[in-house]
Amino acid sequence: MHERNCVQFLIFLHMDVSTFETMVTKTEQSRIDQLDQNNIQFGKLYSDHMLVAYYEDGAWKQPQIMPYGNLSLSPATSFIHYGQAIFEGVKAYKDPEGNPAIFRPYENFKRFNRSAHRIGMPDVPEEIFIDGMRELISLDRDWIPTADQTSLYIRPFMMAVDDFIGIKPTTKFMFMIISSPAGPYYADPVSIYVDDRYVRAFPGGVGFTKAAGNYGASMFPMTQVRKMGYDQILWMDGIEHKYVQEIGTMNVFFVLGDTIVTPGLSDTILEGVTRDSVITLLKDNGYNVEERDLSIDEIVDAYHAGNLKEAFGAGTAASIAPIRALTYKGEKLELPPIDSWTISPWIRTELNDIRYGRKEDVHGWLYRF
Ligand code: COI
Repeated sequence: MHERNCVQFLIFLHMDVSTFETMVTKTEQSRIDQLDQNNIQFGKLYSDHMLVAYYEDGAWKQPQIMPYGNLSLSPATSFIHYGQAIFEGVKAYKDPEGNPAIFRPYENFKRFNRSAHRIGMPDVPEEIFIDGMRELISLDRDWIPTADQTSLYIRPFMMAVDDFIGIKPTTKFMFMIISSPAGPYYADPVSIYVDDRYVRAFPGGVGFTKAAGNYGASMFPMTQVRKMGYDQILWMDGIEHKYVQEIGTMNVFFVLGDTIVTPGLSDTILEGVTRDSVITLLKDNGYNVEERDLSIDEIVDAYHAGNLKEAFGAGTAASIAPIRALTYKGEKLELPPIDSWTISPWIRTELNDIRYGRKEDVHGWLYRF
C-alpha cells in the first residue's frame, strides 16, 4: 500500500494480543531528502512513519507502525463533532556523537493519561505510549535534526472514533504518534497581550489537560490579538481576571527583582514538563523561585518600580521564549533590552546543554535508546 494511501483499514484490524508488541511496516520510499537541516520550520514536514493503536471492546489492540499517511474517517466520527481529543508534545535530540535521546517522555506519558482520565478516555499503557514511541523514533532516528536549536518534535494524540453523532460515552478510540523535525517555535522574542476579557480555563474545567478544545477555544481571541500585532495572549484567571495563568503554548515566568515567579499549579494551568525542568534547574543552582498566585497588578507595579527584569515562556515546542513586551489595559510594559538579561539566557543554555548531551544529565531526564 502506498504511504499516502488511507489507513482506514486499520480500524478493521481488531487483533487482540496478550502483549503490545508493535507490528512494523516500513516505508518503501523514505522522504528524508526533503529535510533541509538549514531551514527547518515547525510542523511543516513529518517523518516517514507513524504509530497507530486502536481501542475497542474495553481493550487496546496491537499497535502498528506504518508509513506516514492520511486518515480516512467517517464524517460522523465523534471527535470531529464533540472535540474529544487530547495530545502531547515531546522532543528528541541528538548528542554531539549522534546518539538520540527523548527528553522526559515519562512525564508526558503521565500527563497524557491525566488528560485522558479527565476527558473520559482510556489510559494508554506504557507498552504503547513509551515502547511504541521508542520504536517509532528509533526507526525514524535520521529525522532528528542536529543543527543548533533543532529537535524532532513528537506528537502523541488520541481521539474518540465512534461512528455516531449522538452524545454517549465513547467506546472506540485511536491513539497515534507522529513526529516532525522542528526549529525554534518563536524565531524572535514575543510580544504578549494580557487578556482580561476572554478566559482560557475555569476551576473544575479542563485547563490542566492537553485537550484539543483548550487550543481550539483560544483561536478566535488569538486571531484578534495577532491582527493587533501581538504574538500571543497571556491568560488571566476566569473568576477575577486578575491572576496570571499561562500563555497556552507555554507556561510563564517573571523575574521580579532577584526572584523568579511563576503561577502555582492548579486545575486551570498545564503542568508543563519544561516548566518543571526550569524550576528544578533554577533551584539546583541557588536561584530563588516562587510558585504562587501572581496578579497582573503586581507585575505592573514591579515594572513601574524598575523591578520587572525579565519575562519568558517555557514549553516543549517553544523551549525558552523571551517576552519583549506585555500590553495590559492599553499600557505597554517594555522589558529591559534582552542583551542585559542573565537568568533566561542561562536557563536556556543549561537546558539545551542537557538536552543535547553536552552536560551531565544528573536528573536522568534523557531517555536513551
Ligand atoms: C507543546 O509545547 O508541545 C505544545 O503543545 C504547544 C503547541 C504547539 C500547541
